[in-house]
Amino acid sequence: MQFYTTMLAVKHVVKKYGNFTVVNDVSFHVGKGEIVSIVGPSGAGKSTLLHIVGALDKPDSGSVEIRGTDLHTLPSRKQSAFRNKNLGFVFQFHHLLPEFSAVENVCMPLWIAGMNKTLAAKEAAAMLDIVGLSARLNNKPSELSGGEQQRVAIARALVSRPAIVLADEPTGNLDSANAHSVHELFLRLRKELDQTFVMITHNDALAQMTDRILTMRDGQLANDQLTNNN
Ligand SMILES: Nc1ncnc2c1ncn2[C@@H]1O[C@H](COP(=O)(O)OP(=O)(O)OP(=O)(O)O)[C@@H](O)[C@H]1O
Ligand SMILES: [Mg+2]
Repeated sequence: MQFYTTMLAVKHVVKKYGNFTVVNDVSFHVGKGEIVSIVGPSGAGKSTLLHIVGALDKPDSGSVEIRGTDLHTLPSRKQSAFRNKNLGFVFQFHHLLPEFSAVENVCMPLWIAGMNKTLAAKEAAAMLDIVGLSARLNNKPSELSGGEQQRVAIARALVSRPAIVLADEPTGNLDSANAHSVHELFLRLRKELDQTFVMITHNDALAQMTDRILTMRDGQLANDQLTNNN
């Protein structure tokens, strides 16, 4: 598959903690609608890199451009607004708010962006339908299975139609059947919404379902390889 529009350009990113270089001159591009996985041993710098891509952390040098905007040079208020609009996050532990229902959790980014409540509820319900949870709108996280909770978190990441969804071991906490179905959901969302994903995974079989695998080792991009899906 060919991906023509560049959504994300990471250029010579370096991050150090003291004398320890955690991310060492990493550069790569991701195209619109592309699903890229990041793999590599524990401590290789994967989460640090993803946090820098998501502007949750700052690089010591290098740049991150999303749709041509250099994220780390934006003043902080503009950066937060840009992040809320353009990036969706999914983590290993879903961080849903326990006292809110599924639909309210998915509404949260829309409320933060100032959308009115009726419209937000409609958008959130539509996104929960896409992830197969239209029958569970009013259930609280504690009333949902682990896989269902993760799908609510994915709906929340996607509801503002971000340019890129960044996921850090989104299936690390799920059994293999649920993990597989989350990856199938990502593939379907790419097909239906042309959604772009960058995701960290420790699961080789799941990485093979994506378009491209970036391997990190000791802070460096050791390999950047298309999978057989291309
Ligand atoms: N705030 C920090 N201060 C000092 N060192 C840190 C800090 N955050 C991360 N590190 C170190 O940076 C290295 C990379 O961490 P990172 O979390 O990016 O690894 P990872 O590839 O995501 O690993 P895992 O697969 O275990 O999640 C690790 O050695 C970690 O101890
Ligand atoms: Mg990590």
